[in-house]
Amino acid sequence: MRIAHVVGYASICAALHLAGCGSLEPSAPAVTPAVAVAARVDIGELEHGRLIYTTRCVECHAAERIPRYSRAEWMEILPRMADEARLNDAQDRAVRAYVMAFVTR
Ligand code: HEC
Repeated sequence: MRIAHVVGYASICAALHLAGCGSLEPSAPAVTPAVAVAARVDIGELEHGRLIYTTRCVECHAAERIPRYSRAEWMEILPRMADEARLNDAQDRAVRAYVMAFVTR
């Protein structure tokens, strides 16, 4: 492998801020049936939310670790960021449900 390839690959990883460049954990934890039951939200809604979180919410910055902010902080952040990402109502609801399923405080 040529050096240019190595440097290119490393900078893509750095740009995406992906742990090990192969996984979005823990910034975007996977949805499981147990999480859906605990959150009392349809698992399809949570999967949709995770998709938005990992595609639309990373257009300007890396995906934030959800537990870094409290529920109250997310309630203030999400409407602003939904505007930034130009989400429609269904996408807004889904990403909100996803984030709220993983807040810890
Ligand atoms: C169009 C660019 C853009 C998109 C898309 C975007 N953000 Fe942001 N985000 C920003 C900017 C700029 C800041 C820092 C300044 C600010 O807070 O407005 C920020 C800050 C944040 C912060 C730090 C807390 C804070 O209030 O500053 C969080 C958390 C966050 N974004 C989450 C998200 C989520 C979740 C989404 C998807 C719904 C998202 N962002 C989509 C531009 C964006």
